[in-house]
Amino acid sequence: MVSREIKIAPSILSADFARLGEQVAEVTTAGAHYIHVDVMDGHFVPQITIGPPVVAAIRPCTNLTLDVHLMIERPELQLEQFARAGADILTVHAEACPDLRKVVEQIKGLGVKAGVSLNPATPLAMIEEILPAIDLALMMTVNPGFAGQAFIEEVVDKIARLRQILDERGLACELEVDGGISAQTAPGAVRAGAQVLVAGSAIFNRRESVGDAIARLRASLGGLTD
Ligand code: DX5
Ligand code: ZN
Repeated sequence: MVSREIKIAPSILSADFARLGEQVAEVTTAGAHYIHVDVMDGHFVPQITIGPPVVAAIRPCTNLTLDVHLMIERPELQLEQFARAGADILTVHAEACPDLRKVVEQIKGLGVKAGVSLNPATPLAMIEEILPAIDLALMMTVNPGFAGQAFIEEVVDKIARLRQILDERGLACELEVDGGISAQTAPGAVRAGAQVLVAGSAIFNRRESVGDAIARLRASLGGLTD
C-alpha cells in the first residue's frame, strides 16, 4: 500500500497542437494535477518542440501547475524566459549542467520550483548531493526525445533506490517518472515509489477521450493507494 497521493501529469507533446488550449482545459477538467511541457532543442535530444511562447499561451487555459521539462543544453540561458512565461516547475537535466547547484539556485531565485532529471543510464549519484535543494527528481523511463516509446523496466530499481534515499533522509522532493507510462506500467513505477506520473500517448490518443484515459490510468493503481 502506498500512502502518498499519486499525481497525473499529462504531457502535451502528444496533444493535438492545433487545439492545444482546449486539450489543456480537457485534462484539467478530467482531474490531472500537473501539465507537463516537453521542451526539446534539437541538441540535447534530436527533436525540436516548443518554447516560452507556448508556455505563455497555455498559462490562461489552466490553473494547474505547469511542469516544464527542459531537454536542452545550456538551460541557464533560458530559465528566466520560461519563468516569465508562467512555468511553475523548471526541470533541467543533470547531464546538461556541469554546475548543477548553480542552475538549481538560479531556478529558485526566479521564484519557481526546481527539478532535476536523469536519463535512464545516468546513475543516481549524480543528484544525491542536490536532493535537499530540489523540489522534484524526474527519472526518465525512456531515452528522452520522443513520445510513444516503450517503458525501460531496468529503471524501476533506480526509482526504488531513490524512494528509499528520500524516505530515509526525510526529504519532501517529489519523485516523478516520465516515458512509456500507461495502465500497464504505472503500477510497477508507483510500487517502486514514484509519486508523479507523466503520460503522453497514454492520455492523448485517438482511442479514447482524455477523461477515459486518465480514469483508466487511475484505475490501474486501484489496489495500490489509499
Ligand atoms: C520524452 C518526454 C516525455 C514523453 C512522454 O522525451 O520527456 O514526456 O513525451 O510520452 P509517452 O508517455 O508517450 O512516453
Ligand atoms: Zn517529459
